[in-house]
Amino acid sequence: AAIVEHTFEVKNLTIQRLCTQQVVTAVNGDVPGPAISVCEGDTLVVHVINNSPYNITIHWHGIFHLLSGWADGPNMVTQCPIRPGHRYTYRFSIVKQEGTLWWHAHVSVLRATVYGALIIRPRLGFSYPFPTPYKEVPIMLGEWWKANAVDVENEALATGGAPNISDAYTINGRPGDLYNCSTSPIYELDVIPGETYLLRIINAALNNQLFFKVANHRLRVVGIDASYTNPYDTDVVVTGPGQTVDALLTADQSWGSYYMAASPYVSTEGVEFDNSTTRGLLVYHGSTSTSPVMPQMPATNDTPTAYTFYSNITGLVGGPHWVPVPTKIDEHMFVTVNLGLSQCGTNTTCDGPFGARLSASMNNHSFQIPTTLSMLQAFFFNVNGVYTTDFPDNPPIVFDYTNAINSFDTSLLFAPKRTSVKLLKYNSNVQIIMQNTALIGVESHPIHIHGFNFHVLAQGFGNYDPVNGPSKFNFYNPQVRNTIAVPVGGWAVIRFTANNPGVWLVHCHLDVHLPWGLASAFVVQNGPTPSSMLPPPPADLPQC
Ligand code: C2O
Repeated sequence: AAIVEHTFEVKNLTIQRLCTQQVVTAVNGDVPGPAISVCEGDTLVVHVINNSPYNITIHWHGIFHLLSGWADGPNMVTQCPIRPGHRYTYRFSIVKQEGTLWWHAHVSVLRATVYGALIIRPRLGFSYPFPTPYKEVPIMLGEWWKANAVDVENEALATGGAPNISDAYTINGRPGDLYNCSTSPIYELDVIPGETYLLRIINAALNNQLFFKVANHRLRVVGIDASYTNPYDTDVVVTGPGQTVDALLTADQSWGSYYMAASPYVSTEGVEFDNSTTRGLLVYHGSTSTSPVMPQMPATNDTPTAYTFYSNITGLVGGPHWVPVPTKIDEHMFVTVNLGLSQCGTNTTCDGPFGARLSASMNNHSFQIPTTLSMLQAFFFNVNGVYTTDFPDNPPIVFDYTNAINSFDTSLLFAPKRTSVKLLKYNSNVQIIMQNTALIGVESHPIHIHGFNFHVLAQGFGNYDPVNGPSKFNFYNPQVRNTIAVPVGGWAVIRFTANNPGVWLVHCHLDVHLPWGLASAFVVQNGPTPSSMLPPPPADLPQC
């Protein structure tokens, strides 16, 4: 195992996209930032130097961080931010996970431009559970604003409305040639006929699930969220923000060039979104074709296509790092995932529905990020008053979750603001039924849990049925993820083992839903032996 070292300089710079000069915050001068590549078992050391005007933290999305929670990164959850002019070194080992993950800023909306790939290959002497590809290619899907994304989100938070939609989607930072005035070159992948490529597809967009296709080419999914799957053949891939898909593509079509494209999957009615399409090119080496084939993208509301993809993938039982489903459950949770409202304040109206401010909650607690001390420091040093341990195991009342607000107690809309967590015993097994609600608009929320992978036992539409639901559980080969797109107006059942002491955020990965409060945290207690206890913080941990 090696030590892989990187230096990230975070700095503002001016980038030209869509014919507009835009000041953005970026790592080492580019968007996306550096792609990190390690082998399973390696230790990653990243020195982050903050020369930007903003507070910064970096999160390693999907990394287990076994006993290294001080490096996880969410602002005020595991650390105070790195202030302008300061630095912090993230240091952690990467064990028992392989595949495609990514890193991104975890403060404010900075992940719009502060992000990059994090690729974990098998350690020396081990191989993939599929034929070794000729080449591996990160495909990072993102969003671009002709505005400062931080200003966009701050304006939304100030006015209580939804943030302005983006001006473009991007592939590896480039908008592609369907946008007016797209001066940056289109992303191009040069392929050798007959060879097989591993596309490491990452949804780094802020607010949209995305379809991805390559004209005339089949994709063979072999991994999701850095866990191996049974090979799944498809012509379309779907990802929620935060999720990744590893797919093999063989250059088996006639010599020429073909578009790859990404477009949004948004099943919600009446919600504004960017419904543009970004595209790049797959070019057979030496081909100069002037009319590449364009893939037919699914409609933006094509829930059947999205659901088929999401629900048919299965985990690779017995493959590298496969973990069986926990069977004896210690903690049963039923968690509603809600959009809601908060009061606007006296004598003002806000841009949200009913003149109020948009907000969000889980089990009617709207998560508030602490301001004085990070939750992990409070955990380690036994400081009271930073969080409470009363996050409810169940929603406050049971109702028809698919019905909009007028059919039930509207007080549910106005969830109290709390920094409440669920306390878990070391090594306890947790089952969570996640239920989307329709309080304000029906939506699919991509829920991400920090620090753990989980098995997805079942998912479906409508209200979860406690009587017949369990008969649909897949105990044998469920998919394993770190982010689950809970189906629109539906539910998902997941399980994980709380084998890592520390504080682990759980939240919706639609960017603005986190400051709105669609979050909570698991506080996992220390185990009985030194090797099951969180070590003290590194000396350079930023202070508040
Ligand atoms: Cu990728 Cu808490 O985030």
